[in-house]
Amino acid sequence: MSGLDVATALLQEAAAAMARAGDSKDIARILEGIKIVDDDLEDSPCEPAQTESKDESAEEQRLVKYGVPWRIAAILARSSSTGDTRAIQQARRWKSPDRAFLTLMGPEGTGKSVAAGYIVQSGPPLVGGRRDCHWVPCDPWGHRPWPHLPVWIRAASIARSMDAIPEEITHAQIVALDDLGDEPDSTHCRSRISELIAARDDLRARTVITTNLDAAAMANRYGRRFVDRLSRHGHIIRCEGGSLRK
Ligand SMILES: Nc1ncnc2c1ncn2[C@@H]1O[C@H](COP(=O)(O)OP(=O)(O)OP(=O)(O)O)[C@@H](O)[C@H]1O
Ligand SMILES: [Mg+2]
Repeated sequence: MSGLDVATALLQEAAAAMARAGDSKDIARILEGIKIVDDDLEDSPCEPAQTESKDESAEEQRLVKYGVPWRIAAILARSSSTGDTRAIQQARRWKSPDRAFLTLMGPEGTGKSVAAGYIVQSGPPLVGGRRDCHWVPCDPWGHRPWPHLPVWIRAASIARSMDAIPEEITHAQIVALDDLGDEPDSTHCRSRISELIAARDDLRARTVITTNLDAAAMANRYGRRFVDRLSRHGHIIRCEGGSLRK
């Protein structure tokens, strides 16, 4: 990188920071409109997670194939070892087709990632009696591509990559975006994350996000429009409590 490139990159960063600072006037206003759920989502009869195989190790491998980390797949593959945490309860109740996003925020070890894995394991919710994706996107020529398999991906992996975000991710029937905020706080990373969220929002496709950031930190980092999307087109759930890590 030449000295000029470095200077240009620094100037771009500074411009982005100033733009975000401009946003911060609006952040307080936006945060007023954001509903962070301390109460539970509306209860309804629980659906058992969809499993393709009763064999636990096959189930574990199925989840790992979607990108779910082994430690989480191992917990979920044995239903007797899956605790009924607040995060799991809320994940189970997230059904509303018009709410594409579920954001689980809170401190470390409160079971957010395990709950995100549970959503990947459960598959799409029952809609009209069928377990199906509620969205079937149409391109300008009227083709209706079938959604791809569920995907578990760390925010840092999506954010760092320079390639276009693969369609297997943008069009996955479910995306679990783990550890939002763990990626470097750079213009490139922020724009990659925003791009994925906007694409998922356009498709009204289910996306579960886990993060240690609170709403103000998210708005500060990704902009108010980003948090507005997660709030208006989803549920933002606070997961509190001590760490469940052993
Ligand atoms: N529903 C659950 N059933 C059984 N064990 C759980 C459950 N949820 C969490 N745990 C235990 O707590 C540990 C931490 O859970 P998890 O990784 O989901 O936390 P987290 O909220 O995502 O934390 P972080 O913010 O650090 O990523 C798990 O590895 C597991 O041992
Ligand atoms: Mg986690």
